Amino acid sequence: MQPKFKKSYRFAVRTAVYITIYTTLLMSVFLYYYQILQWYYPLIFSVCIFLFSFVIIQFSVERFIYKRVKKIYDDLTLLESASIAKGAITTNMQTLTEEIDKFARDKKLEIETLKVREEYRKEFLGNVSHELKTPLFTVQGYILTLLDGAMNDKNIREKYLQRASKGIERLGYIINDLDMITKLEVGDLSLNMEVFNIVDLVENVFDMLEIKANKKNITLTFDRDYPSPITVKADKDRIQQVLTNLIINSLKYGSEKGTTEVSIENLIKNKVIVRVTDNGEGINKIHIPRLFERFYRVDKSGSRKEGGSGLGLSIVKHIIEAHEEKIYVESEYGVGSEFSFTLEKTE
Ligand SMILES: Nc1ncnc2c1ncn2[C@@H]1O[C@H](COP(=O)(O)OP(=O)(O)OP(=O)(O)O)[C@@H](O)[C@H]1O
Ligand SMILES: [Mg+2]
Repeated sequence: MQPKFKKSYRFAVRTAVYITIYTTLLMSVFLYYYQILQWYYPLIFSVCIFLFSFVIIQFSVERFIYKRVKKIYDDLTLLESASIAKGAITTNMQTLTEEIDKFARDKKLEIETLKVREEYRKEFLGNVSHELKTPLFTVQGYILTLLDGAMNDKNIREKYLQRASKGIERLGYIINDLDMITKLEVGDLSLNMEVFNIVDLVENVFDMLEIKANKKNITLTFDRDYPSPITVKADKDRIQQVLTNLIINSLKYGSEKGTTEVSIENLIKNKVIVRVTDNGEGINKIHIPRLFERFYRVDKSGSRKEGGSGLGLSIVKHIIEAHEEKIYVESEYGVGSEFSFTLEKTE
């Protein structure tokens, strides 16, 4: 982009006029003194002086400003200095001011982005260590107690080893989730798109989570019969992960003897929407905007039995967005929640 420049001669003209008036007056006095009284002498003289000083001044000003401005451009690497045509930027300061303004604005934005990122990084590290600390210390606690003599009691030994093993299992889950989130965030995770029947996939997930659901007497069901297959094009394993995370949430935050219902509906010509609805505790409105942030949990205390690390929904959102699809949430506190996402349908 080569900005348009407007040359300005005002400074040179004005200075040349001053010089001309001054020297012409001086010359006139001199001529008068020596009685040289041709009227056109001062006129010729003044024209010559004016032209001469105008050219010299304009030329040196241009050179001076060009050198300075080029230096500014060089220093700020605003433009490739080689691309500045000589004489172009010389006399119009407005363009330079605009460029510097723009430069400053860009830099400010860059700094703000970096600051936000730095905050995010700090928060992330804090969250990670916090999440890892709890199960790690649990495991450490049990092992130390065992070493301190508890291992001699057979009953306690087994109980503590089992608890330690649970802690390790939890660590494994967190690390897996973190690993997946990192991959999703750097865009490292390539999708393995295939055509499959989404009804079957939901049934699979129901089967997998049946025991978990039974523990809380929650019924896993479809909203109606789906006798014919509904085929979609997506990464099957990832969508299975999405459904698992959503349904596990509906179990974790669902009420005893409740119901988790899945529905699959046509949305527009080539889209279906999959909804996972529960009649559990629901989510207060103020939490909804941040729900998909990693590590975000409604109940921060972590004291509640069902506390996770707050990565589940973040993973869900990443996977759906990697498919260029949308995820929605609707929830009413005390009534229940509905999470839904779209998928590409194939005929
Ligand atoms: N179906 C739901 N009903 C009520 N609250 C929910 C539901 N799903 C999610 N939440 C709330 O949203 C929060 C974030 O959910 P998310 O799945 O990201 O994390 P998590 O379940 O706490 O942990 P993780 O899934 O990593 O084990 C949860 O802590 C919970 O408070
Ligand atoms: Mg979860």
